[in-house]
Amino acid sequence: QRTRHYQFNIEMQNVTRLCHTKSIVTVNGHFPGPKIVAREGDRVLVRVTNHVPNNVSIHWHGIRQLRSGWADGPAYITQCPIQTGQSYVYNFTIVGQRGTLFWHAHISWLRSTLYGPIVILPKLHVPYPFPKPSKEFILIFGEWFNADTEAIINQALQTGAGPNVSEAYTINGLPGPLYNCSSKDTYKMNVEPGKTYLLRLINAALNDDLFVGIAGHNLTVVDADAVYVKPFETETLLITPGQTTNVLLRTKDFHPNSSFLMAARPYATGLGTFDNTTTAGVLQYREEPGSRKQSKPLLPLLRPNLPALNDTAFAANFSAKLRSLANSDFPAKVPRSVDGRFFFTVGLGADPCPKNQTCQGPNGTKFAASMNNVSFAMPTTALLQAYFSGNGGVFAADFPGEPPFPFNYTGTPPNNTFVSHGTRAVAVPYGARVEVVLQDTSILGAESHPLHLHGFNFFVVGQGFGNFDPEKDPPRFNLVDPVERNTVGVPSGGWVAIRFVADNPGVWFMHCHFEVHLSWGLKMVWVVLDGEKPNQKLPPPPRDLPQC
Ligand code: C2O
Repeated sequence: QRTRHYQFNIEMQNVTRLCHTKSIVTVNGHFPGPKIVAREGDRVLVRVTNHVPNNVSIHWHGIRQLRSGWADGPAYITQCPIQTGQSYVYNFTIVGQRGTLFWHAHISWLRSTLYGPIVILPKLHVPYPFPKPSKEFILIFGEWFNADTEAIINQALQTGAGPNVSEAYTINGLPGPLYNCSSKDTYKMNVEPGKTYLLRLINAALNDDLFVGIAGHNLTVVDADAVYVKPFETETLLITPGQTTNVLLRTKDFHPNSSFLMAARPYATGLGTFDNTTTAGVLQYREEPGSRKQSKPLLPLLRPNLPALNDTAFAANFSAKLRSLANSDFPAKVPRSVDGRFFFTVGLGADPCPKNQTCQGPNGTKFAASMNNVSFAMPTTALLQAYFSGNGGVFAADFPGEPPFPFNYTGTPPNNTFVSHGTRAVAVPYGARVEVVLQDTSILGAESHPLHLHGFNFFVVGQGFGNFDPEKDPPRFNLVDPVERNTVGVPSGGWVAIRFVADNPGVWFMHCHFEVHLSWGLKMVWVVLDGEKPNQKLPPPPRDLPQC
């Protein structure tokens, strides 16, 4: 076990994309931010110092944070933000995970520029359970907004409208040659023929699921959300915001100088669906040593075939292919039975427009989003601190209570699109085996919602279209080799069922990883109570924990 030290200075930096220059919030001046590398079992210490006017907090997305909830990072959930001039040391140990995750800001929309990869290698001398790659690459997908994203979301929340969408998607911060004024900002991956490469793909985009492919090449999926999966080959991947996927790329005998486009563009089915098209990078086969360097124009290159914008069937089939290894080295510890079943609807809704204001949401309302029709009200102090110090009254541990009024969750327009508000939590005892069914409400159009749970991996035991049927669907759950992950796409116009063991005491956020839905309230918290034994309790907070 090693301890890895990192210093993250949050600072402003001028960055130019698409011929627009703006000052963005970065870590150490880099966009995207620096990578964290550790081995399974290592301890990681990241000292974050805030030199910008904004409040900041950083989340280590997908890291289990076993009994280290104080280091999880979501602002007002596990910690108060780090204010200008302050520092906080995130201190956590990586237990039982290997693959790719990422870190990102977890306050307002700062994660549009504050994000970077987390690479978790297996323990020393432990090989991958797949052919050894000759090299590894990281592809982190994001979005570029010409305008300041803090201004975009603040304005949207004020007017009740949907926020502006981004101008481009990016690969490693670069939009690539298919956008205007961008061909010099193209990510290039240099490879040699006949080799195996490991690509670590991360969707750090704010608001879109992405289809990803590389022209002329298939990819073999080997790991999702830092858990190995049964390998399968595919031409196209689907990755939702918050998901990470490792794939093997086997290069062919293409002659030197061959190049191919790798590309990503959205999978989107919801209201106000838009396609601001395609980010691309170049897969470049080695140039023959000694051959005359020709400066070739970047385009046209062969483009990958990507599914249509609304190809829900592809999305469902792709998700169904992901399976745990479930072998003796990597058993799938799926709870066979459960102690608690929960049903949550997820979807959009509306708030009434305040008097003397005109709102630009649906029918003159304000956009909202909810779980079981409750739009989560952000507290002004951190819930984990309130919980730990026994400060009641900050949240109500009475969620979900009654299911929302019965309506057809998929299809028929419901009689009431308005949401209520509250800081509602579900409290479960230590060690409880929990099942959660997440149902897309389709109130304002069927839509896929990437639901992310902090502090746990869960098993995706079932998914389907239409309304979840509590009689017919559970007998068909996969309890043998379901994929284990931290973010799952609730199918557009359908449902997904997950199971996890509540073995991590603390307060844990669960929310849609579309930043716009997060802002509108599609979020809730789980409180996992302490167990009896000392190693089943949440330790006290570190001394430098920021205060509100
Ligand atoms: Cu990556 Cu709460 O999020």
